[in-house]
Amino acid sequence: MGEPQPILDPLTPAAIFLVVTIDEDGEAVARDLLADLPGLRRSVGFRMPGSGLACITSIGSAAWDRLFSGPKPAQLHEFPGFAGERHRAPVTPGDLLFHIKAENQDACFELAMKIAERLAGAGAIVDQTVGFRYFEQRDLLGFVDGTENPEGQLAATAALVGEEDPEFAGGSYVIVQKYLHDLNSWKALSTTEQEKVIGRTKLDDFELSDAEKPANSHVAVNDQDEIGTIVRANMPFGSVQDGEFGTYYIAYADDPAIPENMLIRMFLGTADAAYDRILDFSTAVTGTSFFAPPATFFEALPD
Ligand code: HEM
Repeated sequence: MGEPQPILDPLTPAAIFLVVTIDEDGEAVARDLLADLPGLRRSVGFRMPGSGLACITSIGSAAWDRLFSGPKPAQLHEFPGFAGERHRAPVTPGDLLFHIKAENQDACFELAMKIAERLAGAGAIVDQTVGFRYFEQRDLLGFVDGTENPEGQLAATAALVGEEDPEFAGGSYVIVQKYLHDLNSWKALSTTEQEKVIGRTKLDDFELSDAEKPANSHVAVNDQDEIGTIVRANMPFGSVQDGEFGTYYIAYADDPAIPENMLIRMFLGTADAAYDRILDFSTAVTGTSFFAPPATFFEALPD
């Protein structure tokens, strides 16, 4: 298995997510950037000891075909998008995803600037989301987010491609979606009602019992025992000026069908629920799929 990118490292207090499109004829510049990225990260990170600066770089399906002539990860395809009766998960453009994370925002910002400089004239940054750790690892709905992520070997098995695709073993399929929360309607709910939407208690983060937990709660819809396991690295983001409050959803999986099935259940419903009730308070405004190759893939790209 190739050495994975730092997908399994713990969540950091700061992150920047950059989604980039590559211009027509921008392929050579993008390829050079990908080849130089490990060195760029070292240059920025080494000057900032203790920053823990890391960058997970992922490539979309169409971009893969434009950039490389060799083999392609077996399950790599565009984000399909999902439309339920009430809520939609749109498809938005993206050729490359840079998931930059560190202990401090300055380290993330410095690397983001270098990436932007290197892409100038050959690509566009179509989304920049600055994520932050909110207190007690809560999202902006006030609930602790990430508790039921797998740990240790289980996390590696959930996130990393194995011998089913030996060329890309150690890589990971990635889905990102930017969700905006309607905090006014959310805050109009009592805490007990909010707990029924999520399926866990708000203050101390325990899962509700089967008897208490509605079938359309977020946790019931995304039951990992039933669907399979993913590694989530969600981060809150927001602007008080724009009244924008959101969750940047990012999932890593060894098979994109698992997070896609979760989205089918959330948007189109399950046998027992019309849709995930979290969607009444959270609107997906982006949706893009990528593949994060093993770290060794970038080291092997010609300079
Ligand atoms: C669980 C928040 C979107 C998959 C949770 C939990 C929270 C949460 C608070 C409970 C604690 C935990 O185990 O992490 C959110 C928010 C979202 C969002 C605020 C955006 C509005 C999604 C999406 C997916 C997803 C789009 C999948 C496509 C899961 C899974 C669990 C979970 C698999 C764990 C279920 C379990 O095994 O108990 N989420 N989530 N979430 N969420 Fe989300």
